[in-house]
Amino acid sequence: MSTDQQPRANSGMFRTKSVEQSIRDTEEPEHALKKSLSAWDLTVFGVGVIIGTGIFVLTGKVAKENAGPATALAFVAAGIVCALAALCYAEFASTVPVAGSAYTFAYASIGELPAWIIGWDLVLEFALGTAVVAVGWSGYVRSLMDNVDWHLPAALEGPDVPGGTFDILAFLLVLVLTVVLVLGMKLSARITAVVVAIKVTVVMIVIIAGLFFIVGDNYDPFIPPAVTPEGGGSGWDSPLVQLIFGYEPTNFGVMGIFTAASVVFFAFIGFDVVATAAEETKLPQRDMPRGILGSLLICTVLYVAVALVVTGMQHYTELSVSAPLADAFKAAGHPFYAGVISFGAAVGLTTVCLILLLGQTRVFFAMSRDGLLPRFFSVTHPRFKTPYRPTILLGVVIAIVAGFTSINELATLVNIGTLFAFVVVAVGVMVLRRTRPDLPRAFRTPWVPVLPIFSIAASVWLMLNLPGETWFRFAVWMLIGFVVYFLYGRGHSRLGRTGPDAKY
Ligand code: ALA
Repeated sequence: MSTDQQPRANSGMFRTKSVEQSIRDTEEPEHALKKSLSAWDLTVFGVGVIIGTGIFVLTGKVAKENAGPATALAFVAAGIVCALAALCYAEFASTVPVAGSAYTFAYASIGELPAWIIGWDLVLEFALGTAVVAVGWSGYVRSLMDNVDWHLPAALEGPDVPGGTFDILAFLLVLVLTVVLVLGMKLSARITAVVVAIKVTVVMIVIIAGLFFIVGDNYDPFIPPAVTPEGGGSGWDSPLVQLIFGYEPTNFGVMGIFTAASVVFFAFIGFDVVATAAEETKLPQRDMPRGILGSLLICTVLYVAVALVVTGMQHYTELSVSAPLADAFKAAGHPFYAGVISFGAAVGLTTVCLILLLGQTRVFFAMSRDGLLPRFFSVTHPRFKTPYRPTILLGVVIAIVAGFTSINELATLVNIGTLFAFVVVAVGVMVLRRTRPDLPRAFRTPWVPVLPIFSIAASVWLMLNLPGETWFRFAVWMLIGFVVYFLYGRGHSRLGRTGPDAKY
């Protein structure tokens, strides 16, 4: 197939943007990002965003409420889902090396409307993800401040605290990180590298020091028997799979492991963000797969180890839900370790927030460059070469959301959005293999179509284990997306105006 050959279905909602066009767009000087990242930068980036609120905060909650010591198995299950998706992401990212992640990939393979849907979905994932992590960060900082007897007025501690309304710390964190991003990618990557080192060190301290405080009896039973939640649990807060198939809703047991997996899945979010930096990578064809798979592997091993250690140190029924890793050391009589862990968590969550915010602005940037959102947002800064307009707009909006919103409801919504993106990427790999078999692929997903089909099934299974109310909120968000597309994006799309391979 020649490079000028038109992709299939060039008009209407399923028009696709050719891969060549996607790459050419990135070369327009006004809309180009600087290519400065290596495989090492990407791995640091990946680990920087992956280890965060998921392991530091959610581990305690799911161990206590859903899976007990078998939380380690929940991490394995979620890790497998992510590994399957990562193998699909890696092929896409190394074939279509431009900003925008699953959005760009979908545009090149399935069509404009699916691409819009996924882009809209990613905006939700990254924006709410940033807010969730900022609120988690604020909790750790307040806990550190408590150690030295400093206290904020209750009203400024955030909606999760009795009497609180606005989380001033989370709000300020997002604003400061917005400024860092506007100043430029390289600066962000350097800060990230230092902070990631601190975070990984703290996680290693938890694992190694914690080994000495494990009590074997805490693992008995490893998979606690299923119990019916208080009040019957038949409402929309139960996993959709239980509502659909009419099971009596339960916690713990084997199904509890999957409920836990659908929540701790949040701990893995971020490896896909590595793909959003493809355009800023020096050798994307080689470095992308290394960056994505490498960071995912490191994190999975660390999570399973942390989950085993923490549920071994303290009986799962006694774990804390706000700062479980630090509190397990306090309970073992070692407040010094607890302080170090709290400090590392607070520092580490800063990078998670930063990189999610970065991924968010890059998706928005790519959608704007394509005309699906106003082009005003895709002009890069003349000096810093960063997409400063969406960065500032979204930074301010997310800061406000982080200030006013409670952490729990948002995390599951982020998960469903991300899993949906995984499904679209896996479909895209299969479609692109058929429509553009000629494209050079530095990394090829093994066993296509079997592996992508497994990836889709695994992602859908985790989605089904999320609460019914999460599905409802997700549906509402996507519905708004359709309205925006038909009222704005469809008419303003550059592809729609000029054709798939036009030079403009
Ligand atoms: N994986 C990231 C976290 O756990 C988003 O905070």
